Amino acid sequence: MSQTIEAPRTPARANRSSGTNWEKWGWIYMRASGVLLIVLIFGHLFMNLMVGDGVSAIDFAFVGGKWSDPFWQVWDGLMLWLALIHGGNGMRTLVNDYAHSRGMRGTLKIAILVAVVVLLVLGTLVIFTFDPCPAGSPADLLPSICKGL
Ligand code: HEM
Repeated sequence: MSQTIEAPRTPARANRSSGTNWEKWGWIYMRASGVLLIVLIFGHLFMNLMVGDGVSAIDFAFVGGKWSDPFWQVWDGLMLWLALIHGGNGMRTLVNDYAHSRGMRGTLKIAILVAVVVLLVLGTLVIFTFDPCPAGSPADLLPSICKGL
């Protein structure tokens, strides 16, 4: 039994000739964010896995220490935003290429948008409001790095 698969680049809608070409800007964004992500992701892996004691040094205090430094907060925030929008836009492309019905395409793209927005809000809050030693917490629930603070 053979099955014919439609050419993956078949557009879901006819191209419009006027106005902003969002598909072009999406295409450029995928390449530009890809280049930045190479630097951010490999920098992240290098600092976490190779510098100092490497992977065995990663624990709650390691993460708490990194997120008390604005440099790593911005680094991780950029990684989060660039990768999530890159991944969401890439999934949008796949849905446009492979989902057959208009209703299914709309549903899947709304689900992707909701997932991206929820993860961006939660991730950004975690990175920028993280407090390893929240005031007023019971001492037995706090990590050892909080002793004496
Ligand atoms: C080193 C980092 C990365 C680089 C250099 C990179 C590069 C690219 C490029 C150039 C494309 C466009 C391909 C095309 O249009 O044919 C793409 C597509 C895509 N990327 Fe990334 N990417 C990276 C990381 C990620 C991450 C972290 C995610 C997930 C969050 C992701 C998810 C996707 C998806 C879902 C697509 C669409 C696949 C398709 O069109 O067939 N990528 N990537």
